[in-house]
Amino acid sequence: MRVVLGVSGGIAAYKACSVLRLLTEAGHEVIVVPTAAALRFVGAPTWEALSGRPVSSEVWDDVPLVPHVRLGQEADLVLVAPATADLLARAAHGLADDLLTSTLLTARCPVVLAPAMHTEMWTHPATGANVALLRERGVHVVEPASGRLTGADTGPGRLPDPEEIVAAALAAVTPAATGDDAGRSAADDLAGRHVVVTAGGTREPLDPVRYLGNRSSGKQGYAVAAEAARRGARVSLVGANVSLETPAGCDLVPVQTALELQRAVDRLVDGGGVDAVVMAAAVADFRPAHYAESKIKKTHGEGDDSAPTIELVRNPDILAGLVERRAGAASPFLVGFAAETGDGTGDVLALARAKLERKGCDLLVANEVGDGRTFGQDTTTAHLLRPGTEEVRTVGPGDKALVAAAIWDHAAPLLR
Ligand code: CTP
Repeated sequence: MRVVLGVSGGIAAYKACSVLRLLTEAGHEVIVVPTAAALRFVGAPTWEALSGRPVSSEVWDDVPLVPHVRLGQEADLVLVAPATADLLARAAHGLADDLLTSTLLTARCPVVLAPAMHTEMWTHPATGANVALLRERGVHVVEPASGRLTGADTGPGRLPDPEEIVAAALAAVTPAATGDDAGRSAADDLAGRHVVVTAGGTREPLDPVRYLGNRSSGKQGYAVAAEAARRGARVSLVGANVSLETPAGCDLVPVQTALELQRAVDRLVDGGGVDAVVMAAAVADFRPAHYAESKIKKTHGEGDDSAPTIELVRNPDILAGLVERRAGAASPFLVGFAAETGDGTGDVLALARAKLERKGCDLLVANEVGDGRTFGQDTTTAHLLRPGTEEVRTVGPGDKALVAAAIWDHAAPLLR
């Protein structure tokens, strides 16, 4: 496999030597593209000796070979380690002022960025927004480790161990490119796949302090995402108002409203290469028609004790939109969830069957909710329904991880 290893200018650049070593020893062809600042930390002769190839930071070397376009076009993987705050910002905004950022713009292969910087820079809202934007576009941004930084200070921002970076980078690439498609087990049956999982519950703002929301905690969606990552998938996790820790190996795209969730999912799917979308999020079907810029007050005037009426408008049905846009064989496998309480018109299974037909997805996971069941709990009972058969697979009562495993057991062999 042909790997472009970008190195940007941080003290952790020295650790990229080990990353390079691990990649070349695994038989990959590695072209190192350091930034000018990276070369102040580790010089070109080190990269050239370790990779066995000349290195350049500039678009002005070897111009007849058009390296600023060719390197990205021909790569099977672009990995940047360490990725500094400045590199993340330039990548997020599409700048192309040196060879590495030009390569990032021309690459159509998986791109993996391993950030390293001081905690203050990592937790700054500007860096957070840049990371969110990159993840929305399907770039895999590895979570930095916590620990000792350059000086005596500690905190999140440390470059993960080279072994971990290489594992995350290889997991982002299709098995065809790594030539290791054979002998897959349940433990890695999603290797090389890119899946999108939505989780949590949307909040539809009424005014700066109030919203319409729901009881979803995100536990089921997070369990689905964690299981996919464990099985080797690249996971984009679109989390709506979830306060759980992001599972290892997942790229979190935080959202609040149904419209934001739709935009995040559409951008990921439109970027191409998504193999499955699991819609575990509880998406509000309606949102307030008007957002009050200032807090809605209890009384509008002396003696006025009337209550306001909240007008609602419909939100788009995101899952139905994905079903409509199916493009033949390239369409991702679509999993819907149904949270049902049962009502006068039928029991949970009958309602779920009707929903599966209405939605047209490839798998529907029906949960019984209400009376303290499912929402916010660690355990659940779920029914897995498929189109074209009356057969139902019931999982639980048990941990939400069990349901997650059942979903991927079913979906993994059916991915295109
Ligand atoms: N869903 C969606 N967009 C919406 C509402 C729901 O994509 N606006 C998705 C959910 O993520 C879930 C599935 O559709 O995977 C079913 O959600 P649910 O709320 O149970 O169903 P609704 O379509 O809203 O139907 P109803 O309210 O009639 O039960």
